[in-house]
Amino acid sequence: MPTTKNRLKNLAIIMDGNGRWAQQRGLNRTKGHEKGAEIIRDVTRYCAKHPTIETVTFYAFSTENWKRPKLEVDFLMRLLDRYLQNELATYQENNVRFMAIGDIAAFSPKLQARIQTTEEATRNNTDLIHVLALNYGGRAEITHAVNNLIKAGKKEISEADISSALQTPYSDVDLLIRTSGEERVSNYLLWQISYTEFYFTQTLWPDFTVEELDNIVTDFEHRTRRFGGLS
Ligand code: FPP
Repeated sequence: MPTTKNRLKNLAIIMDGNGRWAQQRGLNRTKGHEKGAEIIRDVTRYCAKHPTIETVTFYAFSTENWKRPKLEVDFLMRLLDRYLQNELATYQENNVRFMAIGDIAAFSPKLQARIQTTEEATRNNTDLIHVLALNYGGRAEITHAVNNLIKAGKKEISEADISSALQTPYSDVDLLIRTSGEERVSNYLLWQISYTEFYFTQTLWPDFTVEELDNIVTDFEHRTRRFGGLS
C-alpha cells in the first residue's frame, strides 16, 4: 500500500453498453445512447469539482463506429449536436473547456461548426478540459503526429516529439475505465496508455454513477504505481 495517494490528473473513459442497456428494457438502442449522454454530463460535473482531475476524455465515436447501421450513426450525430448545444451553458457554469480529438472533417459542416464554436466559446475555462474523442483512432492519431513532424522537417523523431504532436492536451493517461464488462482497448489513446492503470466494471454505461466513479478514483489513489521501477 503506497504511503501517499496517487494523483489522478488525466482520466479516460470507454463508455460501453448503451445498446445492451436499451435491449434489456425492450427499447431501441438509441435510447441507450440518450441515457449515456446524460451520464457524460454527470461525470463531467464530478470531474470539474474534483481537486486533482485536469482532463477527462470520453470515447464517443471511433473510426470503426461508421460500420454501424446508418440510422444509428445518423442518430449519434444528431445526439452529439444536441448535446453540445445544451451543454454549452454547463461548460460555462462549471468553468469547463471543451475540446474534440479525432478527424472531425468527416462530419457534416453543421456538426463541425458546432464543435468548433463550442471549443472557441470555452477556450478560456480552466477547471477541467473535457475531451470528446470523435471519429478517433489511436493508430491514426500516432500516424498523423509522425507525418506532421516529418512535414515540419524532423529527420529523427524522439518520444518527446511524438508526445507533443498528439491531439490530446496530455501525453499520459493515469486511469482508464471501461464499462460493461468488456476488457479491450479498442484503438483508444494507444500512445497515452503506456503506464495507465485500468479499471473494468460490469456496469453498463447508462447505469454508471458518480458514486461508482468516486469509488474507482479512491481505488486508483491507493494502487501501487511503479512505472517500470521498484516500489
Ligand atoms: C457504446 O455502446 C457506446 C458508443 C458507441 C459511444 C458512446 C456514445 C454515447 C455515450 C452517446 C452519445 C455521445 C455524446 C457525446 C452525445 P454500444 O452501443 O457499443 O453498446 P453495446 O456494446 O451494448 O451494443
